[in-house]
Amino acid sequence: MPRINRIGILTSGGDSSGMNAAIRAVVRTAIFHNVEVFGICRGYEGMIDGQFEQMYSHSVSNIIQRGGTMLKTARSKRFMEREGRDQAYTNLKNFEIDGLIAIGGNGTFTGAGIFDEENDFPIIGLPGTIDNDLYGTDATIGYDTAINTVVEACDKIRDTANSHDRLFFIEVMGRDAGFIALRSGIAVGAEFILVPETTTYIDNFTRLLRHDWRRNKTSGLVIVAEGDDCGGAYAIAKQVKERLPEMDTRVTILGHIQRGGSPTAYDRVLASTLGYEAVNALLEGQRGVMVGIIDNKVTFTPFEKAIKHHKDVNHQMLEMSRILAL
Ligand code: F6P
Repeated sequence: MPRINRIGILTSGGDSSGMNAAIRAVVRTAIFHNVEVFGICRGYEGMIDGQFEQMYSHSVSNIIQRGGTMLKTARSKRFMEREGRDQAYTNLKNFEIDGLIAIGGNGTFTGAGIFDEENDFPIIGLPGTIDNDLYGTDATIGYDTAINTVVEACDKIRDTANSHDRLFFIEVMGRDAGFIALRSGIAVGAEFILVPETTTYIDNFTRLLRHDWRRNKTSGLVIVAEGDDCGGAYAIAKQVKERLPEMDTRVTILGHIQRGGSPTAYDRVLASTLGYEAVNALLEGQRGVMVGIIDNKVTFTPFEKAIKHHKDVNHQMLEMSRILAL
């Protein structure tokens, strides 16, 4: 196995809090092993454009507590084309980079898998997305911070909902997955949680709402994952209003505040551990895998499995949330 002397690191796709802590861990672990590190700016876009800069221990000082990503990120269309990937490979070779650490989600690992197949290039992935929709890890970097942001916002909305006897529909991120909605919904005692993993039957839903209000509920929170089949918070609020015009409803879209902010302690520790493990794995000859943590144990999942294997929300917890809100 040829020794790896120089690695590249990039963040790609939607940013998530804790990415900086992961970059810090990768840079410092690599330097500890006498491996040089090059930061690649703007994900695969920067890899195609040759935006590489050497990183040192001091380059990652004072970033563990910061949200976003110091390397910037992008969703690269050009990397989906062979021409873009060939250009990226040429740049890596010119910089004598022999291994890569890619922090991101589904799109990032899809690109990484194709790139390795075409160029025989060792890549290790770190799960960085607020959505927590990757198989092979209990939590992704940024998920915990996003949930805590949602909880803080919903607690505030609860105050005003209660004062005005209103029903709020609060839309949270998660275009394909309901992990943020479920966990934050339980934490705020939401009356209903609507996720893409289950079908929302509008008539059934309004029947339950009417039932709750007859039992003297006067206000409530409905957490709606953006990818729910009802079409999002505005769409469901409209349908409810048509059926229950007497209800005073409001909609809040939490949006990108979920992606930023100082990472929680949980995310900082997770990102630090995964960054450290990723470098060690790369130097030991692992490749084409995502590093994750399951039941407190470090695990390595092939990219294809991490992307394609379905990680389902916990349906028992969904059921529990409804019982606890009665
Ligand atoms: O994948 C993370 C995510 O935050 C999703 O939850 C959301 O649907 C999407 O990114 C939004 O992406 P963008 O910031 O590119 O609009």
